[in-house]
Amino acid sequence: MARNKITIVGAGNVGATTAHIAATRQLGNIVLIDIVEGLAEGKALDIAEAAPVQLYDCDVVGTLDWEKTADSDIVIITSGLPRKPGMSRDDLLAKNAGIVVNVSEKAAKHSPDSVVIVVCNPLDAMVYAAAKTTGFARNRIIGMAGALDSARFSAFIAAELGVSVEEIKCVLMGGHGDDMVPLPRFTSVSGIPLTELLDEDKIAELIERTRKGGIEVVNLLGYSAYYAPAAGAARMAEAILKDKKTVMSCCAYCDSEYGVGGYFVGVPVILGKNGVEKVITLDLNKSERAQLEKSVNHVKQLAAKVDQLL
Ligand code: NAI
Ligand code: 2OP
Repeated sequence: MARNKITIVGAGNVGATTAHIAATRQLGNIVLIDIVEGLAEGKALDIAEAAPVQLYDCDVVGTLDWEKTADSDIVIITSGLPRKPGMSRDDLLAKNAGIVVNVSEKAAKHSPDSVVIVVCNPLDAMVYAAAKTTGFARNRIIGMAGALDSARFSAFIAAELGVSVEEIKCVLMGGHGDDMVPLPRFTSVSGIPLTELLDEDKIAELIERTRKGGIEVVNLLGYSAYYAPAAGAARMAEAILKDKKTVMSCCAYCDSEYGVGGYFVGVPVILGKNGVEKVITLDLNKSERAQLEKSVNHVKQLAAKVDQLL
């Protein structure tokens, strides 16, 4: 059977780590592309040389040349500036929009049938920029944020309760910013509602830590997180390439859904071979709806900034 082909744009921290995870999970042949001479080639070679130890069979190629990315099934866009201490994700908008437009044009030209997963920040605005640039069907443009934010929320819950991370299932909505909306009512520990296991104050504390999860790592490292983000991007790629129909939170196009009106925001979706196969609409209560509306309004403001630039 022919292997899938995955292009990862940007061979920095998130891109190279995503490539390594995708290789270990044997998701397909991988092309890593960057603009810095030697970087993608070096990282790809290193990942290929780990194969005999970690026992994966796939080609991992690093390049500066978009021709080598042709006909990829998935393109994961990680090329963009990461934030530093004192910066918000939104501070990256103008610079990263230019990069995302540039690489999205190339992705659309060389892999016109691909599903695109955007990782660059500010995430929801960069997904919007990639959608406008590629003109791809909306189900084939998806952003990675919910996978990461849910993972952080799950990790904090598991640690608090002293249970396996495998047991935690959570839903998170809205934009990838401080106003993201973790939903404890739709979060369970092996089927037991979280609200049965932790009191309101503790849940509020874990939500706050999740909302600030990105900056917590930035403040420790001096640069942004990449193991968990890469794991999130690779999980999305796996769901799509294996047509798993995985239910997870992703940044996806919503029109009538949640009354969003034609923007990309974090919502629970079913991910399969067509990308977003369905947006799952939940019956939110008044407080949840208000939080989502606030977050969506923020996403719309960022999209308006993208409109001014494009
Ligand atoms: P990094 O600086 O380590 O890597 C970025 C790479 O992109 C660099 O190697 C750079 O040379 C490359 N690049 C820049 N312009 C390019 C172009 N036109 N074509 C190809 N490659 C190009 O940054 P890192 O840590 O990997 O983060 C990447 C992006 O992902 C940042 O915008 C960061 O904010 C975002 N991010 C998003 C997350 C999310 O949850 N959505 C989580 C973590 C990071
Ligand atoms: C994060 O949440 C920086 O968006 C990135 O870690």
